[in-house]
Amino acid sequence: MKKLTTAGLLLTLAVGLAACGGGDKPSSAPAEQNQSQSATTSAGGDDAMKIMQGKCMSCHGQELKGGVGPELEKVGKRLDKDGIAKVIKEGRSGTGMPGGLLNDEETEKVATYLAQQK
Ligand code: HEC
Repeated sequence: MKKLTTAGLLLTLAVGLAACGGGDKPSSAPAEQNQSQSATTSAGGDDAMKIMQGKCMSCHGQELKGGVGPELEKVGKRLDKDGIAKVIKEGRSGTGMPGGLLNDEETEKVATYLAQQK
């Protein structure tokens, strides 16, 4: 009886030790993922805003709230993406809105962004 108990005790101890030794901390990886994700989410708008800062905001206002030109904050309500792209490419003759300020790629980005502003 006594021998058995001792053996059982030793066994429990051995198992316990093994479990402890193998149980290193799990690797802590997932922290970085969130950051890069939020960066890509806002990239489109950031790009469009950067383009417009240089070329559009002098007339349409720092926050697109309007100046010489009308506010563009809610331009998506008045015009769809094609309509906006047309204004950017051709301007509006007889008004202060100049065309040809942006290349095709910039026009695409800005028109896409503005069409979502409703
Ligand atoms: C020199 C001043 C000026 C600059 C620079 C300018 N705009 Fe304009 N924009 C105007 C004016 C003025 C109007 C109003 C035209 C009208 O009366 O139909 C206008 C109209 C618009 C409209 C149509 C709004 C609507 O409700 O019909 C869009 C879209 C627009 N601009 C986008 C842009 C973008 C994008 C840029 C930068 C590439 C830009 N504008 C640069 C003066 C400017």
